Amino acid sequence: MGSCSFLPVFFFYIALLINLCVAGDPFVNYDFEVSYITASPLGVPQQVIAINGHFPGPTINSTTNNNVVINVRNKLDEELLMHWSGIQQRRSSWQDGVLGTNCPIPPKWNWTYQFQVKDQIGSFFYFPSINFQRASGGYGGFIINNRDIIPIPFDTPYGDITVLIGDWYTQNHTALRKTLNAGKDLGMPDGVLINGKGPYKYNATLVPDGIDYETIEVYPGKTYRIRVSNVGISTSLNFRIQNHNLLLAETEGSYTVQQNYTSLDIHVGQSYSFLVTMDQNASSDYYIVASPRFVNESLWQRVTGVAILHYSNSKGKASGPLPDPPNDQYDKTFSMNQARSIRWNVSASGARPNPQGSFRYGSINVTEVYVLKNKAPEMINGKRRTTLSGISFVNPNTPIRLADQFKVNGVYKLDFPNTPLAGAPRMETSVINGTYKGFMEVILQNNDTKMHTYHMSGYAFFMVGMDYGEWTENSRGTYNKWDGIARTTAQVFPGAWTAILISLDNVGVWNLRAENLDSWYLGQETYVRVINPEATNKTELPVPDNALFCGALSKMQKPQDISLATPIMGNASKLFFTLLMIIYSLMLL
Ligand SMILES: *[C@@H]1O[C@H](CO)[C@@H](O)[C@H](O)[C@H]1NC(C)=O
Ligand SMILES: *[C@@H]1O[C@H](CO)[C@@H](O)[C@H](O)[C@H]1NC(C)=O
Ligand SMILES: *[C@@H]1O[C@H](CO)[C@@H](O)[C@H](O)[C@H]1NC(C)=O
Ligand SMILES: *[C@@H]1O[C@H](CO)[C@@H](O)[C@H](O)[C@H]1NC(C)=O
Ligand SMILES: *[C@@H]1O[C@H](CO)[C@@H](O)[C@H](O)[C@H]1NC(C)=O
Ligand SMILES: *[C@@H]1O[C@H](CO)[C@@H](O)[C@H](O)[C@H]1NC(C)=O
Ligand SMILES: *[C@@H]1O[C@H](CO)[C@@H](O)[C@H](O)[C@H]1NC(C)=O
Ligand SMILES: *[C@@H]1O[C@H](CO)[C@@H](O)[C@H](O)[C@H]1NC(C)=O
Ligand SMILES: *[C@@H]1O[C@H](CO)[C@@H](O)[C@H](O)[C@H]1NC(C)=O
Ligand SMILES: *[C@@H]1O[C@H](CO)[C@@H](O)[C@H](O)[C@H]1NC(C)=O
Ligand SMILES: *[C@@H]1O[C@H](CO)[C@@H](O)[C@H](O)[C@H]1NC(C)=O
Ligand SMILES: *[C@@H]1O[C@H](CO)[C@@H](O)[C@H](O)[C@H]1NC(C)=O
Repeated sequence: MGSCSFLPVFFFYIALLINLCVAGDPFVNYDFEVSYITASPLGVPQQVIAINGHFPGPTINSTTNNNVVINVRNKLDEELLMHWSGIQQRRSSWQDGVLGTNCPIPPKWNWTYQFQVKDQIGSFFYFPSINFQRASGGYGGFIINNRDIIPIPFDTPYGDITVLIGDWYTQNHTALRKTLNAGKDLGMPDGVLINGKGPYKYNATLVPDGIDYETIEVYPGKTYRIRVSNVGISTSLNFRIQNHNLLLAETEGSYTVQQNYTSLDIHVGQSYSFLVTMDQNASSDYYIVASPRFVNESLWQRVTGVAILHYSNSKGKASGPLPDPPNDQYDKTFSMNQARSIRWNVSASGARPNPQGSFRYGSINVTEVYVLKNKAPEMINGKRRTTLSGISFVNPNTPIRLADQFKVNGVYKLDFPNTPLAGAPRMETSVINGTYKGFMEVILQNNDTKMHTYHMSGYAFFMVGMDYGEWTENSRGTYNKWDGIARTTAQVFPGAWTAILISLDNVGVWNLRAENLDSWYLGQETYVRVINPEATNKTELPVPDNALFCGALSKMQKPQDISLATPIMGNASKLFFTLLMIIYSLMLL
């Protein structure tokens, strides 16, 4: 358990105890108090979103089939939703934590997420999904371990380390939001954070004094699983560890064919596990670097994350220049070829004992095709907005899934076009009509001059192809029909396309969005609505008892007893509460 408060640990044992008796799937419990703290990751004091007083938040550590319960208390001065990025929420888009499925948690309220991490393993992260809050933090890692009975395709690593990298502004999210609302670009970030900390002072001109940097302590000779996620706003980052090979082993829930990389491009929203063997002589510490990609590096020098890899027998500090980034200024295929080299290990087991490749996606017939084309931001009705296929998404006041459930009409239109709209762009709540059990092909066409990533909730999709230029029917001839990786966040190079295949077997309403936070905030998203015509709890769980109501349904919302939701607990009352819980759990037994 990565949490700092003793309460979650305590609940965890109680839950284990209960579980032993009822023989269901185990529970893991977390209490998240989300609040502002003042921190100075880049040397400038600023408002940062913390969880239980920490930035980044605790890593959620779960195992396939666990029931994960997270009681989120909103101590911000604005609404909040927590999104568990890459967690598939089988049969339960109610728990996805995005505006299309959940009403936001009002300030001072709490809301308990409860979901089962089914048929999944791997490395993911969570973050606050609305109001541009991710730019102020509030994020943390999310691990799903294999069940003991499922072998992993490598020796058990000595340690498991989560590394969150991301670009960062010294302005808080409210200030950044104001800039975007005023129709302006955010400009160059002020730095790159590694686990919430600024750069090690590798160069006295570029890094000011007094910055707290991340140090990762390791033992010589041991192999560690290092899980790296780009949790940032909009910058693609090249990740590397001086003198160490990164043996790629997993990405977003799929085991990869294991290959060594000296560095890997990690785009916004993507996660990778590397196996790193501490095979160097520890003559000094080593640099861990996350540097921006596809930018003018002489202008962006300050925007570099630097942490330290410290062997227990290290003989001194890291010094000298950082390890070089890829030298591919004139080779735009380098990064794309690296992306294409990431393959699925089809003979490894994932969450289930059968090999990952036993689901032969290449032999399934596609039932529906969508070409989603983005553009650089443009003016719509006097506002600077972003679009997908000519539509800038407007979030409804009543979440789409709740509107369906309680038969509120006119909230959205099920008319998202299969091919980009010609003519003037529009602002709409337009949703994709997904066919339950269909097999959807989505071509993401990036007409912007920036790198983009797209994420879909509810599924892992197969990445089958990417190339520069406009996608055509002939492009299908280049698809990888055998070992394309199944993942949740796809990169799409500027002026290029990426094709993904999605098996629509998860009923619900699922967010499909730009992971670039500016583009997402300005409307580059939609939802895919997947309905089983035969309503049954077997394919979708009922609306949770604690569902929040808003918009046209706000009359259904009972007021929350805030005094109960946010107990101000001293040590004495904590003890009392604990005793109460013990008595309560004994009663349950
Ligand atoms: C956020 O930034 C704005 C603009 O700089 C500032 O006015 C505001 O006080 C900041 N909020 C907090 C809580 O620091
Ligand atoms: C996750 O929890 C398991 C025990 O349930 C533990 O063995 C493992 O070390 C934990 N992993 C991390 C990264 O904390
Ligand atoms: C808020 O937290 C309390 C316990 O602290 C819990 O009993 C209650 O169910 C939570 N409310 C919701 C809506 O999840
Ligand atoms: C793929 O997984 C299998 C089964 O665990 C393993 O034996 C093999 O080494 C892996 N192959 C590669 C290339 O990583
Ligand atoms: C530090 O960075 C500056 C600016 O790029 C550069 O001119 C200088 O050579 C660097 N110093 C060292 C010691 O590398
Ligand atoms: C990766 O590099 C390590 C050395 O760092 C080496 O021992 C290992 O054999 C390499 N693995 C592969 C699959 O190339
Ligand atoms: C340690 O390794 C570095 C880089 O591989 C090398 O330059 C150095 O000579 C080695 N030092 C010792 C004491 O072996
Ligand atoms: C990068 O920026 C520097 C400084 O403004 C400029 O001199 C240089 O021409 C730029 N390089 C490229 C490739 O645009
Ligand atoms: C896929 O479509 C082809 C022809 O379009 C058809 O012959 C084949 O039976 C279909 N396969 C499946 C699994 O439905
Ligand atoms: C949505 O798709 C289903 C088939 O999956 C079809 O029956 C229905 O008419 C479609 N709805 C709309 C509004 O197009
Ligand atoms: C954007 O689309 C237009 C029209 O299809 C095309 O001419 C242009 O080259 C595209 N630009 C990029 C960067 O893809
Ligand atoms: C689904 O479950 C809910 C609550 O457990 C129950 O009220 C409802 O009748 C069930 N619906 C079906 C179709 O089984």
